[in-house]
Amino acid sequence: MILGMIKVEIPEQLSDALRNVRRVVVLTGAGVSAESNIPTFREAQTGLWEKYDPTELATPQAFNCNPRLVWDWYRWRRELISAAKPNPGHLALVEMEAHIPEFTLVTQNVDGLHRRAGSKNVLELHGNIMLTKCFDCGRGVEIEAGNPGELPRCRDCGGLLRPDVVWFGENLPAAAIEGAMQAARQAEVFFSIGTSALVQPAASLPLYAIQGGATVVEVNPAETPLSAQVQFVLRGPAGEVLPALVKVVWE
Ligand code: OAD
Repeated sequence: MILGMIKVEIPEQLSDALRNVRRVVVLTGAGVSAESNIPTFREAQTGLWEKYDPTELATPQAFNCNPRLVWDWYRWRRELISAAKPNPGHLALVEMEAHIPEFTLVTQNVDGLHRRAGSKNVLELHGNIMLTKCFDCGRGVEIEAGNPGELPRCRDCGGLLRPDVVWFGENLPAAAIEGAMQAARQAEVFFSIGTSALVQPAASLPLYAIQGGATVVEVNPAETPLSAQVQFVLRGPAGEVLPALVKVVWE
């Protein structure tokens, strides 16, 4: 099938398997939002890591040292994400969910685009950038406008507020990672889409799926450490590969 600029080959064995499958787990990373113009983390030319050192921005230590710099960075990312729209890759996953009896979408992305696209059973492993909590007491809050130029503070304890995302060195939300691990172990088909498969514990999820006997599929224009271990590699951008896959299997 020719779709957009690339030729997407969907192996028949995979499309046949998907028509009869009950339990599917999808793990997504920054690559699935690349076509919504949100830069990925690790891509050399365009990734956030090229312009900024995340270890100086996305850690509790960084926030302690320079909360203003960290907030500036997150405000910039919030604006970028507010302006972004779900792309055909997000929308294809909504359609896939409609055809699969037990479908779990696990995402490392904090941009909320899967839910905005219409995906329902979504586990956000790294939080959501639009939410805010207190750095000291942990209470989740609606962010308050406050005075321009001042850092937002918790109304309960007076502590500084921070974005409610998982920073390096912090634990993932327990319910999300436990749910993701259980779903991965029971998956019949597992997709790893747009992730460099480097950051733990998310990078272990496809390995649990392999141990559980799942058919594992990678969708990524580039090779990753997972590529050699999966049954199917669909090389290409998620926004082209996923619509092509859904069309071949269900239309
Ligand atoms: P990365 O930036 O590490 O990887 C993005 C992946 O997307 C790469 O493998 C690209 O080849 C691939 N990619 C790029 N464009 C794509 C496209 N159009 N379609 C499909 N794939 C594409 O992002 P993640 O793997 O998500 O965590 O990074 C994992 C975690 O590392 C992030 O959640 C973040 C970071 O530290 C935290 O902030 C806690």
